[in-house]
Amino acid sequence: NESSSLSADARNVVAALEENGKDVIIFYGSQTGTAEDYATRISKEASQKYGLATMTADIEDYDFENLDKVPSDKVIVFVMATYGEGEPTDNAVQFWEFINDEDVEFSEDSSLKNLKYVVFGLGNSTYEHYNLIGRSLDKKLQSLGAHRIGPYGEGDDGAGSMEEDYLAWKEELFPTWQKEEGLEEHEAVYEPVLEIVDSEDSGDSVFLGEFNKAQLQGVVKGPFSVSNPYAAPVAAAREMFNSPDRNCIHMEFDISDSGLKYNTGDHLALLAQNSDDEVTKFLKIFGLEDKRNSVIDVKTLDSTAKVPFPTPTTYDAVIRYHLEINGHVSRQLLSSIAPFAPSEDAKKTAMRLGSSKEEFASKIAQKYYNLAKALDVISEGVAWKNVPFSFIVESVNHLIPRYYSISSSSKENPSTISITAVVESIQADKESDYVLKGVATNYILDVKNGLDGKRKACTYQIEGPRNSLEGKKIPMFVRHSNFKLPSNPQKPIIMIGPGTGVAPFRAFVHERATLAAKGTPIGPALLFFGCRSSKEDFLYEEEWTQYSKDTPDDLIKYLEDEGRSPLTESSFLKLETAFSRETSQKVYVQHRLKEHAKLVNKLLKSGAFFYVCGDAQRMARDVQSTLIDIISEQRSISRSKAEDVVKNMRTQNLYQEDVW
Ligand code: FAD
Ligand code: 2AM
Repeated sequence: NESSSLSADARNVVAALEENGKDVIIFYGSQTGTAEDYATRISKEASQKYGLATMTADIEDYDFENLDKVPSDKVIVFVMATYGEGEPTDNAVQFWEFINDEDVEFSEDSSLKNLKYVVFGLGNSTYEHYNLIGRSLDKKLQSLGAHRIGPYGEGDDGAGSMEEDYLAWKEELFPTWQKEEGLEEHEAVYEPVLEIVDSEDSGDSVFLGEFNKAQLQGVVKGPFSVSNPYAAPVAAAREMFNSPDRNCIHMEFDISDSGLKYNTGDHLALLAQNSDDEVTKFLKIFGLEDKRNSVIDVKTLDSTAKVPFPTPTTYDAVIRYHLEINGHVSRQLLSSIAPFAPSEDAKKTAMRLGSSKEEFASKIAQKYYNLAKALDVISEGVAWKNVPFSFIVESVNHLIPRYYSISSSSKENPSTISITAVVESIQADKESDYVLKGVATNYILDVKNGLDGKRKACTYQIEGPRNSLEGKKIPMFVRHSNFKLPSNPQKPIIMIGPGTGVAPFRAFVHERATLAAKGTPIGPALLFFGCRSSKEDFLYEEEWTQYSKDTPDDLIKYLEDEGRSPLTESSFLKLETAFSRETSQKVYVQHRLKEHAKLVNKLLKSGAFFYVCGDAQRMARDVQSTLIDIISEQRSISRSKAEDVVKNMRTQNLYQEDVW
C-alpha cells in the first residue's frame, strides 16, 4: 500500500488479531474523532462485560484482502461515519473503494462466509444520503455472505439523538452477541488501558498545548489537518451584532505564509480550547486543582492502544486542549463513573440517572449540564477524588474541531480567510446562574476581546499588548466542500442564508463582484437574508448596498429584455430581507421566497443555481418545501412532480446545501 508507511505485515488484520491475542477488532471510519470515540466505547464495554480481548483501529491502517481469513471465533465491528454528501470519511476512502469494487477479490475465497461482523453508522439525517456508508457497508457484507452477530445500528447527528441512538443500539447488540457467541457476563469493572504516571520532565520537552511545535518554531509544512493544524495569525476580528447580550464575530486569518489554499465555499476547521473557567471547574470536581501543573506521562497498558495526545504534559493541558469537557454528558458515563462516587448517595444517584432516560433528560440533558456541573449536582459539591485520571482520559470525548463556512472569496482574497460565527451561550434555567458556553465561539470572542490572556498563555506565542490581535494565532485547517458557485459566472444564483447562513454567500457575492471588476460577464444574484431585526443582527448590511445600488428594480423585465445591458459590480445583486421580530407575525426567508415566486421560477428556468445555508433542522426543510410549492404553482404541475424537479436539481448540483 503506497499511501501508508505501515508494512504489509503490519496492515494484516488477521495477524493483528492473532499477534495481539484479540477476539474483537473495532474499526473506525472517523473524520473528526466522534466515530473513534464510539469505537473506543464499544471496545471497553465488550471487554468489561464479557472479558473479550478487544482493540480499536483506524480503518486506514489495514488492508482487507484477507477478510475472508478472519477466523470465525473473531468479530469485526465497523463504526463508520458518513460524511458530506454520502461520502466515506477521509480515512475510509481506500477501504470503501476496495469493498465496493465490483470484482472485489479476497485472498482465497470469494465470499466472507466465515466473517462475523456488526456495523454502527454515524450520519446526519438533514443530509440526503443519510448514513449511506454504514447502510451500504452492511448490505455489502451481507451480500458477500458475512454473518452479522447483532442488529445493524445507526446514530443521527442531525436530530441530535446520536447518543441515545447509540445506547439503544448497544443495549440490543450486546445480548445478541452474547447469545451468538455463548459469552459469559462479568461484573463490569473498570480496566484501564492507559496508565498515568508522574514525570520528571520539565522545560521545553513538556507539552503545554502547542498544537504544532514545529510550526511555532517556524517550520511550516502542510497538508494541514486535525493532527497537523496551521497556527494561523488572527488578522482582524470585529463584532457584527448590535445587541446587549448576543455576539457574532467576523474573524480573519492570515494564511499568506502557510502555502494553504482554499476555494470559495470551503469550510474552515478551527481547533478551540476550553475556557479557564471550565478547566478550573473540571479540575476542582475531580480534586485535581493542586496537581494542575504537575507533569505527567501516559503509558499504554495494551499494545494496541494509543496515547491520545503528546506527552509529557500536564493535567491542565490535557483538560484544556484535548477533552470535550463542556459537551453533552452521556448516561453511560454516569453509570460507569458511579463506582468512583465520593459517597453511597452520590453513587446511587449517578446509577439512577445513568439508567433512567427520562430522569436523565429532565435533570441533566435539558439543563445543558456539562460533566463538571452534573457531578457537582450529583455529589452536592463534594469532589470525586477517586476517579482515576486514566478513566477520565479514556471516557471523556476528544475535543473536536468546529467547522465554519468561509465568508471570504478566494479570488478576491487568496491569502486571508474569514469566518462569521455567532457566539453560543445557553442559560436554560433563568433562575440559575449556570450558562453553557459554546467552546469555540466563546474562545473566538475572548480572542477578539483580548481576554484570552486569561486563558493559559502557553499556546500561540500570545505576545503583544493584551487587547490587540498582534501575535495571536489560532490552529486551523481548511476542509474542501462541494458547495460551489457555478463554473459559468453568467449563470444566475439564488441564495437563501438566514443568520450566519449568509457566510458563504458573502463570499459568493464578493467573488462575483471581483470577476465583474475584471470585466468578466456575470449573471444576477438573488439573496434572501433573514435575522431578528434590521437594527440588531443584520449581517454585512453596509456591504450589500454597494453591489445592489444599480440593480434593475424589475429583474423579470430585465431578464426578458433581449438587448439587456451587462450587469456590473454595482448592479448584479438583489437582496431580500426577512426580519422575524419586527412584526407581530414572524417573517422568514421562505416567506420572501414565496413572494418572489415568479422571479424565482424564471431564474430557475434560465438555469439558476439554488443555494441554502444555515440551520439544518428547520430552515433548510422549510425552504425546500417552499421551493416545491413555488415550482408546483408556477408551472401548474402536481406537488409530487415538483418534488421530482427539486430532486433532479439536486442530482445536477443545481440545488446545493451547506447546513448544520
Ligand atoms: P459547542 O461547545 O460545540 O456547543 C454547541 C451546542 O451544542 C450548544 O449550543 C448546545 O446546543 C449543544 N451542547 C453542547 N454541550 C452541551 C451540553 N453539555 N448539554 C446540552 N447541550 C450541549 N457556525 C457559525 O456560527 N457560522 C458558520 O458559518 C458555521 N458554519 C458551519 C459549517 C458546517 C459545515 C458545520 C458543520 C457547522 C457550522 N457552524 C457554523 C457551526 C459551528 O461549527 C459550531 O457548531 C458552532 O459555532 C458552535 O460551536 P461551539 O464550540 O461554540 O459550541
Ligand atoms: P426567529 O429566531 O425570530 O424565530 C436567523 O436565525 C433567522 O432565522 C432569525 O430571524 C430566525 O427567526 C429565523 N428562523 C427561525 N426559524 C426559521 C425557519 N424555520 N425558517 C427560516 N427562518 C427561521
